[in-house]
Amino acid sequence: MNIIEIIEKKKHGGALNSDEIKYFIDGMLDGSIEKYQTSSLLMAILLKDMDREETFNLTKAMVESGDEVDLSSIDGIKCDKHSTGGVGDKVSLALIPLVSSLGVKMAKMSGKGLGHTGGTLDKLESIPGFNISLSEEEYIDAINTYGEAIISQTGNLAPADKELYALRDVTGTIDSIPLIASSIMSKKLASGADTILLDVKTGSGAFMSEVEGAKELARIMVDIGNDYGRDTKAVVSNMDEPLGYAIGNSLELIEAIETLKGNGPDDFNKLILELGSIILDQSKIESDRDKAKEMLWENMTNGKGLEKLKDLIKAQGGNPDVIDNVALLPLSSRMSFINSESSGYISGINALEIGILSRDLGAGRKIAGEKIDHSVGIILNKKTGDYVEEGEVLATIYHSKDLEDSFISRFIDAYSFSDDKVAEKTIVYEYIK
Ligand code: URA
Repeated sequence: MNIIEIIEKKKHGGALNSDEIKYFIDGMLDGSIEKYQTSSLLMAILLKDMDREETFNLTKAMVESGDEVDLSSIDGIKCDKHSTGGVGDKVSLALIPLVSSLGVKMAKMSGKGLGHTGGTLDKLESIPGFNISLSEEEYIDAINTYGEAIISQTGNLAPADKELYALRDVTGTIDSIPLIASSIMSKKLASGADTILLDVKTGSGAFMSEVEGAKELARIMVDIGNDYGRDTKAVVSNMDEPLGYAIGNSLELIEAIETLKGNGPDDFNKLILELGSIILDQSKIESDRDKAKEMLWENMTNGKGLEKLKDLIKAQGGNPDVIDNVALLPLSSRMSFINSESSGYISGINALEIGILSRDLGAGRKIAGEKIDHSVGIILNKKTGDYVEEGEVLATIYHSKDLEDSFISRFIDAYSFSDDKVAEKTIVYEYIK
């Protein structure tokens, strides 16, 4: 076997067998296959696609390229959830404590934000003292004690993905469904949970801008997870406009805290109840989804979900007082308002553009490893469907540097208006099991 034959086979649309895929992954990691050969194969995969069996075998080889977390010393069903990334997506901050308050064991390894999408770990690091780097032993202890933990990937999980992702990023080969599916699922499967719930975002602020593509990606990832013996489900959800009103690290944490007091934005509440009810089903706590939503709503309004957020913070060395006193979070005192230049119903807010603007304020990073500013961000005062008069405040910007005129004009251009009422937006397009 040699890599040139494998590249040629894929170039002509052939299906690679498991030995060829393993040969490729092993050779890439031991350096016997050159980066230019890997890049060439990646482009051939992007152009010629992979079938379900190839995608499964690629994922398996990537999982087996590194360590797998052993969660067997935790009793019961261990659940994980993953979002493909969006703007204002603070779901994990509220959902994990909420389902944990109903007895679910949540074992979540997460990522930092890159580009226009935020990362759960960055939002948690707004909390003074919060430690995202627990050892595997501390991670397991936290789940055994509190039923929940959210940390950065430990050890050597799916090292093949690190190599492949870095090459895809610079060779125009990110947007391939088998490559995205194997990248996400290899990390999820290596993280060791028994159940996986995927929130596949679609819309202007998502990887997959079209609903059909997002459904296809979700279907493939669900099949890979189930074929691997893990109960895997997915929802395809709306990321046409930012989720909730807050974008930026401390601001999103504050919105999650308010949500666990029962004061969350409608779109955010709905998504949490959808996802939470699936997790309660996966963890065999309640299979009737309507009943599960009632249980979740109760704990979103009686303080029990909020108590679990406090536990999560305490367990990971953060200051739990931030829950009762959000002034302990870093928040810039420089605020500016953006006023509407039109009257009418808001018919759309381009999530990608708002995500980029938030990143430019310092809330996100352009390159991996860059330092971010937890104190800056955006509050949307109006969202799609709202009526605004010219001059009304569209958004409040928390910033640390002077705002440039181009920031303000780009912000305003991210909004579209209509004279007519706009239809209520769909939150979840599809549930895939
Ligand atoms: N997230 C990942 O982890 N990998 C991808 O390829 C895309 C999104």
